[in-house]
Amino acid sequence: MITLKSPHEIEAMRRAGKITAAARAFAGEMVRPGVTTQEIDKAVYEFITKHGATPSFLHYNGYPASVCISVNDEIIHGIPGKRVLQEGDIVSVDVGAYIGGYHGDCAGTFPCGKISEEAQRLIDVTRQSFFEGLRYAREGYRVGDISHAIQAYVESNGFSIVREYVGHGIGTKMHEAPEVPNYGHPGRGPRLLRGMTLAVEPMVNAGTAAICQMPDGWTVKTADGKYAAHYENSILITSGDPELLTDPGDIQV
Ligand code: MF3
Ligand code: CO
Repeated sequence: MITLKSPHEIEAMRRAGKITAAARAFAGEMVRPGVTTQEIDKAVYEFITKHGATPSFLHYNGYPASVCISVNDEIIHGIPGKRVLQEGDIVSVDVGAYIGGYHGDCAGTFPCGKISEEAQRLIDVTRQSFFEGLRYAREGYRVGDISHAIQAYVESNGFSIVREYVGHGIGTKMHEAPEVPNYGHPGRGPRLLRGMTLAVEPMVNAGTAAICQMPDGWTVKTADGKYAAHYENSILITSGDPELLTDPGDIQV
């Protein structure tokens, strides 16, 4: 069942979204050579709890951290640890915050120091694919219109869409209906209605779309070892332009 949020619920989701977006920016600022991924996780935990919220991911299905940090060929769900970030890495940060009964969820891929032109292009195309999808996040369109726009943009730039993981509705639960795939056909899927809140999150591989699950039970990597990027915002469908609940604002995410 797809829930339509009331104005009161939307207010609560704006609050959760603001903290989540700020946590993403905060994590992104920590990405630099020499920092460990667990240092970022610890600081983000402090950041979220200091704002009166709870990290959505911590203990979700047994996930052991507040942030997913996925480096280079890691696509999503990387577990923070002793890994030291190196110049040239690309670092995907995915974070959620829960406050007032509602979740925010967003992600972005950050460069660590100076990165290759091709890695930067992967980051830029992944981010822009979200905004291509966002053009269809309006009443009168369907989920498949968002999905198709993302896929078409990514593939026309020579990259691949991950299919095993998808975006989702969001609200009192982090994962709600509907699923929001990053591939599909225009005119298909549920109709978009004002009051729907969705997490749209393209995961893009530089090489083939094939993925590999790591034995830690969480980390998902590219099968070919090439880089991957991720970009996500929680959004609200309105009677007009969609609203970014996890608005990155002026920050370069
Ligand atoms: N943004 C991810 C998602 O939408 C976060 C889930 S990671 C987990 O699925 F650790 F919480 F599972
Ligand atoms: Co998500």
